[in-house]
Amino acid sequence: MPQMRLFRGHILNPIAEDRYTLHVDGGIVVDGSGTMLEVGEYHEVKQQYPSATVVDYSDRLILPGFIDTHIHLPQYGMIALHGKELLEWLKTYIFPAERAFTPEVADTLCPLFFRSLLSHGVTTAAIYCSVQKDSTHVAFEWAEKTGIRAIIGKVMMDQNAPDVLLENTSESLQASEDVCRTWHGAANGRLLYAFTPRFAPTCSRALMRAVSDLAGQYGAYIQTHLAEHPAELQWVRELFPETQSYTDVYFRAGLLGPKTMLAHAIYVSSDERRLLTETGTCVSHCPTSNLFLKSGLMPLRELMDIGLRIGLGSDVGGGPTLSPFEIMRSAIYVHTARRFLPDFRGGDISPATALYMATLGGAKALGLDDTIGSLDRGKEADFIIVNPQRLSPFSTATGTELSSETLLSRMIFQGDDRIVERTYVRGDLCYDRRSCGKNEREI
Ligand code: GUN
Ligand code: ZN
Repeated sequence: MPQMRLFRGHILNPIAEDRYTLHVDGGIVVDGSGTMLEVGEYHEVKQQYPSATVVDYSDRLILPGFIDTHIHLPQYGMIALHGKELLEWLKTYIFPAERAFTPEVADTLCPLFFRSLLSHGVTTAAIYCSVQKDSTHVAFEWAEKTGIRAIIGKVMMDQNAPDVLLENTSESLQASEDVCRTWHGAANGRLLYAFTPRFAPTCSRALMRAVSDLAGQYGAYIQTHLAEHPAELQWVRELFPETQSYTDVYFRAGLLGPKTMLAHAIYVSSDERRLLTETGTCVSHCPTSNLFLKSGLMPLRELMDIGLRIGLGSDVGGGPTLSPFEIMRSAIYVHTARRFLPDFRGGDISPATALYMATLGGAKALGLDDTIGSLDRGKEADFIIVNPQRLSPFSTATGTELSSETLLSRMIFQGDDRIVERTYVRGDLCYDRRSCGKNEREI
């Protein structure tokens, strides 16, 4: 029988928007397959499982791993290049970088990228590759090796892209289907496929319609961008004059639905919001990217209040950081800034809500909340070990004597990758700060 472990620590667990629990001396029992058998008070759990090997994180926080619902792997080398807005930025930096994303380049970049995500406490990411099919295979291979949980897709573009990146419609569909067939559900469900038509301007109606059929056929995800920048909106209006709105372009193509993740959604009218809620489509909020590329202020509270499922996304390289801490605090700051707009309506985004969005909310958005997002019996053991010492101004303090509100607030407003000591996915130690970021898995 595989070994049973009992992780002991301060367990901070999101349970709903704006709500979480704290077990000051908590225990998580993980079986040999990486499933959590019990989560509760350490002494009670210890009595139930006396023979489990104790892994002692008594002076540490244990949190569910973070979920990045929107990120571009080939753009990692182009991170944090400030100045240009979306369409110019794509042309200047991004399309050349994606063109250069050969399988050889992917083989160098992927281990850095995945290890870096894990070192920031990200255990699950929804990832765009480039149009190159073989590079997408390489990305999946590295996701498999590094142990991260990932939803990955080959980018599709059959119009209005530079010639070197432009695909023939049927070849784009065929290549995407091939990658999906190889990887969707691989590593016992840890790896999943997302059909990835880049955004409406670079995708024909025929391509988008066929994506809807294929994704349905394989039970795979769809990911694309929506309403990020005013110039993009104008372009979409010119390209799709028969539609009512940007969201309507995707609706008519059959792309909206519960397994579709739309990034940004900054400029969406009330009719579009209705389309999104009626179809159960989910949204990735990317506050650091929306500010960095000067795209706009997303009405987060308003979209949450109509029942949309919303996760957080780094949108690297549009966003300048992988850090979920920075993204959580940016979501709060953006909302605070919106209070000063004349048309502002709606309540607050609290630290607890930001944590929820980065964990359980993201899992719900991806329809994975049966498996991940919080620390509950029956879910898989995706969690991180955080050192709270750095969150206290006093060097002698352990940090854990702080109240849960203080810990959470300081973690979100001060935290970065230095407080993440270990990252576990499905019970496997995938990152350990003690080994200077070297992956503990055999790779
Ligand atoms: N819209 C279309 N492609 C992209 C991209 O790569 N990044 C962002 N932020 N927006 C996009
Ligand atoms: Zn993006």
